[in-house]
Amino acid sequence: MIIGILNSGGDCPGINAVIEGYVTAAYSRGWRVIGFHDGFEGLLPVVGGRRYEVLNLLKTHKIRSLGGTILGTTNTGNFNVQVNKVGRHSLDPQILAKAKKTITALGLEALAVIGGGGSAKTAKLLAEEGLPVISIPKTINNDLCSASDYTFGFQSAVEVVSSSIDRIRTTANAHQRVMVIEVMGDLSGWIALHSGIASSADVVLIPEIEFDLQNVVDGIKERKAAGQREIIVVVAEGCRMNGELVTVFNKDNGDERLGGIGNRLCHLLEPATGIETRYCVLGHTQRGGSPCAFDRVLGLRFGVEAVKLIERREFSTSVVLKGPKVGTVSIDEAVAEPRFVNPQSHLVQTARELGIIFGDRRPQDLRRRQLD
Ligand code: F6P
Repeated sequence: MIIGILNSGGDCPGINAVIEGYVTAAYSRGWRVIGFHDGFEGLLPVVGGRRYEVLNLLKTHKIRSLGGTILGTTNTGNFNVQVNKVGRHSLDPQILAKAKKTITALGLEALAVIGGGGSAKTAKLLAEEGLPVISIPKTINNDLCSASDYTFGFQSAVEVVSSSIDRIRTTANAHQRVMVIEVMGDLSGWIALHSGIASSADVVLIPEIEFDLQNVVDGIKERKAAGQREIIVVVAEGCRMNGELVTVFNKDNGDERLGGIGNRLCHLLEPATGIETRYCVLGHTQRGGSPCAFDRVLGLRFGVEAVKLIERREFSTSVVLKGPKVGTVSIDEAVAEPRFVNPQSHLVQTARELGIIFGDRRPQDLRRRQLD
């Protein structure tokens, strides 16, 4: 049997672990695997060449610890799903036809798509064309679908952010500064919340909990008055200021993307608190580097599970992690509901018990904090 695999959208640590698990499990069944380059673009014909390769054990053995992806990826190109006025997703029919032709010509009996929200929607459209598709959730944001407790990439990002905040804390302490750290997450606050708790942040601002700047200012002042030399503020890129997302707009290509709230917040907090304030945007360091052990194991598990789904011919499905178990849901369910932080969750309650300021309550309404 010949099966295919591709990864699409933003990269993240752990993709190569999925590829290794998938290829190893396929080869142990005597199957062959074709890997497509640069996301779905690899499905399109190119004059005088091809954008795919045969993946074998030699090429994939022990790549589980490699960051990035040996196949390359893209989050632009021909396969971005269009959404019409009534929310119906569609792809350019000619593009879809070319993709189908490639899959048929290669005799693929299945295609695994490692992807985030947008890529999973594209995979769903391929499945609706009758193609045998398995979706494998991937994103550092951990916001993909309510059906999966974790996506690989997330824990690696939390490790990078937590250790970065530990480093930033020493210079903030030396200078008695407020440091604002902007982290990724798209419209979710998972990275900010987990890394903020792990690295003793004073303030954690996430899109799911609307904050009042004055509460943040007063909270910082109270900590400073209590003798704290440094104050750490973690803010997720998808937080709103006065109800508005903070974005950067590229005039040349019209591209608008999240980013800039750290800078904005820094220049509001300094005058308001009277404390020297700097900011740091961790950016793509959160997407880079070798995956942590958790993500290597999860990626390998997802890759092997995808092969077992193919063996059982359970297509139009997505692998997920539910508690300690790897399971599956329909691809429809996988793309239905993104996963956001629940402000009433045990994790948020724990953060509040630990004294983390979310900016939604006045300092006098928070639990008393006596350091001595
Ligand atoms: O969706 C993952 C993500 O890392 C977001 O958190 C971030 O805003 C975006 O991708 C960055 O995309 P790009 O790599 O195209 O700049």
